[in-house]
Amino acid sequence: MEKTLLIPKQIVTANPENEILRNFAVEIDGNVITRIASLSEIDTGNYDGLILHYPSLTLIPGFVQTHIHLCQTLFRGCADDLELLDWLQKKIFPFENAHDENSLRMSAKIGINELITGGTTTILDMGTINHQEIIFEELITSGIRAIAGKCMVDINDLLPEFRESTEDSIRTSYDLAKQFHDKENGRIKYGFAPRFVLSCTEKLLKETALMAEEFVGSIYHTHSSENKSEIEEVRRLHSKENIEYFNHLGILNNWTILAHCVHTSENEIEILKRTDTRIAHCPSSNLKLGSGIANIPRYIKEGIKVSLGADGAPCNNNLSAFTEMRLAALIQKPFHSPTVMNAQNVFRLATIDGAKALNLDNDIGSIEVGKKADLVMLNLESPNLSLSEEDNSIYSNIVYSCTKESVREVIIDGEWNVKSGRSLLYDETELYFEGQQELKNLLKRI
Ligand code: GUN
Ligand code: ZN
Repeated sequence: MEKTLLIPKQIVTANPENEILRNFAVEIDGNVITRIASLSEIDTGNYDGLILHYPSLTLIPGFVQTHIHLCQTLFRGCADDLELLDWLQKKIFPFENAHDENSLRMSAKIGINELITGGTTTILDMGTINHQEIIFEELITSGIRAIAGKCMVDINDLLPEFRESTEDSIRTSYDLAKQFHDKENGRIKYGFAPRFVLSCTEKLLKETALMAEEFVGSIYHTHSSENKSEIEEVRRLHSKENIEYFNHLGILNNWTILAHCVHTSENEIEILKRTDTRIAHCPSSNLKLGSGIANIPRYIKEGIKVSLGADGAPCNNNLSAFTEMRLAALIQKPFHSPTVMNAQNVFRLATIDGAKALNLDNDIGSIEVGKKADLVMLNLESPNLSLSEEDNSIYSNIVYSCTKESVREVIIDGEWNVKSGRSLLYDETELYFEGQQELKNLLKRI
């Protein structure tokens, strides 16, 4: 493939110096960023590749979302206004249990389309119990970068038929990891995904951690400490706080990502810090399910790695990195001070810090030479956004004002996924009508 020189209006790099570059170009060759240079250094008249000018667009690294449930996209708006355990028992578990291959495929496609057109280029997805290979097929064809894995459930008091045996869960996860880990030139990786303490035996939690060691670059991904009734039940069953229990099982390390961590004790914060466990913060989900507000400024102060995720569509009800950034900033301010979670830091949570959480920061998360070409271009030239072109106002626009309407171009692994705001892969009218039909079919199976 020919080298391409991108010449945007400005480049928000998310590099260690937080540089914003103007009159600069980014060269991509195949799937890699090969050069970042000032226009005065480049002889564009004699350039031996393609030159693309975007004089009104702002180039940023693609967003990284570290907690997603693609299998739930179909259920958006069908499970509102419930608290976590009711929501799972009455709605989400029966819905997930009713998926067939077709409904799961549509759910994944609709979710991936929304993510990519909203500027998200990497996800950590929790998957579902059955037909996980369908999600992998869609991740592969879509071009998105993903760590994904089958959701593991071997006990289920909320919906007893929505589970599988410990042995089946472990064996299927292992087979899927063998089949999909590090596929597509490393764009697709396996993430082991025991769902949460209340749906997993000790054996499953422990053996999964041992199994994950064989797959270098995989992630151990689960929910933790999300809701008060959930942690009370964990305490009743295991005589420990949620994170203390994980620590006791030896599953916490720098390859573990815990979604939520809303209710944590001092001892648990100490454990997260000591083990270098990562947190996927999901502010919309935490508000909508009434779970609470995670003390993110405290975690960050302690040096715990925090990143952002939309969670599933039925507890959000969007999959937008912009919404999560805005809320992540706003919900902390009344408790701490408006000075915490400033726009630049929150932008980093959604880009380079997401990459760090996934141990992918050598490859993605910022615009630097040698990293993968996972790039997004935003149109910030709108009267609905800040008119100032100061650096602070650029971060302010991205975190506080933008919506996915601002996303114009999306490149993942060097491939164009979105051009002029339109997906090159999906037809949204088709997704709507086919998705609606699959939802109707699924509801008949419950
Ligand atoms: N805990 C266990 N399963 C889930 C889920 O699907 N979503 C959320 N938010 N929390 C969970
Ligand atoms: Zn979740």
